[in-house]
Amino acid sequence: MAQLWGGRFTKETDRLVYNFNASISFDKKLFAQDIRGSKAHVTMLAASGILTQAEETEIIKGLDGILSDVENGSLAITSEYEDIHSFVEANLIDRIGEVGKKLHTGRSRNDQVALDMRLYCRDELLELEYLLKKLLTTIHGLMKEHIYTYMPGFTHLQKAQPVTFAHHLGAYMEMFKRDLSRILDIYKRMNVCPLGSGALAGTTYPLDRELTAALMDFDGPSLNSMDGVSDRDYVIELLSALSMIMMHLSRFSEEIIIWNSNEYQFIELDDAYSTGSSIMPQKKNPDIAELVRGKTGRVYGALTSLLTTMKGIPLAYNKDMQEDKEFTFDAIDTVKGCLLLFTGMINTMKVKKENMKTSAKNGFTNATDAADYLVNHGVPFRDAHSIVGQLVLRCIDKGVSLDDLPLEEYKEVSPVFENDIYEAISMETCVNKRNTIGAPGPDAMKKVISINEAYLKDISK
Ligand code: ARG
Repeated sequence: MAQLWGGRFTKETDRLVYNFNASISFDKKLFAQDIRGSKAHVTMLAASGILTQAEETEIIKGLDGILSDVENGSLAITSEYEDIHSFVEANLIDRIGEVGKKLHTGRSRNDQVALDMRLYCRDELLELEYLLKKLLTTIHGLMKEHIYTYMPGFTHLQKAQPVTFAHHLGAYMEMFKRDLSRILDIYKRMNVCPLGSGALAGTTYPLDRELTAALMDFDGPSLNSMDGVSDRDYVIELLSALSMIMMHLSRFSEEIIIWNSNEYQFIELDDAYSTGSSIMPQKKNPDIAELVRGKTGRVYGALTSLLTTMKGIPLAYNKDMQEDKEFTFDAIDTVKGCLLLFTGMINTMKVKKENMKTSAKNGFTNATDAADYLVNHGVPFRDAHSIVGQLVLRCIDKGVSLDDLPLEEYKEVSPVFENDIYEAISMETCVNKRNTIGAPGPDAMKKVISINEAYLKDISK
């Protein structure tokens, strides 16, 4: 039981208390960040005349040695240390002796852990950015391929009006574009350095906090030391953005599951992204999409958990805050895994264009266009709505679509109909005429696709 703070204690910590308090089992994930922060701290201490050049060189060498030994597996991070900070400091002292004891000058574990977590989240934001860009590029590629792939658009999960697959995918493109902008936005707000806040009230040493911040590519030091050690909003913002990503992935997954079902058959998931049943030999299940949908719960859980943990904590640092880590690590890893697999899944799925088109034709998705036809011939919209309603009833009775109902029947309901009604309600016309920006018509889609093309080029700079 190696403890940094044993000086004022006369008794050993109870074993259960020690275990309850320790965080090494999970904060070992912050190892690389802890070393990075310690190196920056030592460099700053030397530049500020608090440590000598020789002490700096020795400590940095020791920290680099610990880093490479852990990375190459010759040094294990074990539970005999309370947390990752204790592990690094104790190993440094073992390695370089007395001078190692100077590492913690002008620093508290409170600002140290605040820094480590911030560095960790910042690194992970970059990975999330990369994965979101991959997903956006994949959706963009599919959109370009499916400008003329007709499908029913739904409201209430009832066929509503015809759209195209490119248009449907375009909705997700917009959602994930906003998710990416949220991630980039959080990065900006997160990018201040809390190191130098001390335990809560700064320190009496002449620390150069600007230098510490610059050494780790922060925009500057945090401006209030109590806030510096006790702010976790950036984690909550991150969890909130992650929850939103999962909500979007989950809705998309739900649609994939529906489209992949025997009843719909709009798409077929690749064998590599499907699983079988142990009992029913015919089954090919969309487990990946279901898992993505299911894992949304644990990411929401992380957000709710940290919001709840933080709500009643007085300033400044309190041990409650140690609870910010496990769920956050899990949420980040979960979202990264989901983004990666989801992208692969949609990249390899087969799009069954004919089934989509047939489904759009069979669901009276052109009924609005039939009403618009009447309106264009002078019939007030409300009357047109009722006339087409009657026609739909006839079609249902006969088991045909509006496209196949004979002109005589149209005329029986309204004499305004002429032979050009068929052209006016064809799938192609219904979609191709909707060309205001944001609509599924090919001209509108091509415009949006070229906007997205420029956007993707811009974000890959
Ligand atoms: N393990 C702690 C955390 O994650 C950091 C150490 C600060 N602990 C303390 N008792 N001041 O928040």
